[in-house]
Amino acid sequence: MTIDSIRAEINRAQKEEFLVLLRSTERDGIEKLIDYLENKTDFFSAPAASKFHNNFEGGLCEHCLNVYKNFKGLLAMKNIELDESSVIISALLHDLCKCNYYLKEERNRKVDGVWETYLQWSTNKQPDIPLPHSSRSIKYIKSFIPLKFVEELIIFYHMGPFGGEDYEYRNMLQLAYERYPAVLLFYLADTMSSYIDEKILEQ
Ligand SMILES: [Fe+2]
Ligand SMILES: [Fe+2]
Repeated sequence: MTIDSIRAEINRAQKEEFLVLLRSTERDGIEKLIDYLENKTDFFSAPAASKFHNNFEGGLCEHCLNVYKNFKGLLAMKNIELDESSVIISALLHDLCKCNYYLKEERNRKVDGVWETYLQWSTNKQPDIPLPHSSRSIKYIKSFIPLKFVEELIIFYHMGPFGGEDYEYRNMLQLAYERYPAVLLFYLADTMSSYIDEKILEQ
């Protein structure tokens, strides 16, 4: 077995796990969303980042599953109640904005004085919907399924303090943390997944 075939097998199993979880929510429109993910996007082969965590094929799906597990663990640790379907929807779909967003580009580099060509992930600077990261995810999700308010808050603020710099964003973020502690725990789950559970692949 090669490394590539092992990774392909992991990706296949993770896709299966992802779809079982998503279907278990029985949310209106979920089959249409699944059809979109499987047939009109690169969701299950996309990386989670171009240069950072899980920058390999299948990295995005794996990232979402990691966030799901960390989020569930943090909610249990802090005794915060949140409907299981909301945990699943928020975790598995928070980065939907990364669908059809990463492209593999050829680059050249000199190694020991010899030029070589290699492939590197880059990003689509012209996504279909000209909205920032979190808002773009919400827009995609809501075109298929309804979102509960708490899910929208969790996804909107999932970048935590890195999601916006203006004074009002910071104030509203604090208010959201105070009123909906799951919003803070989700930011922590996303960050833990990216920095502790996931690796950066040398390109
Ligand atoms: Fe994100
Ligand atoms: Fe994320």
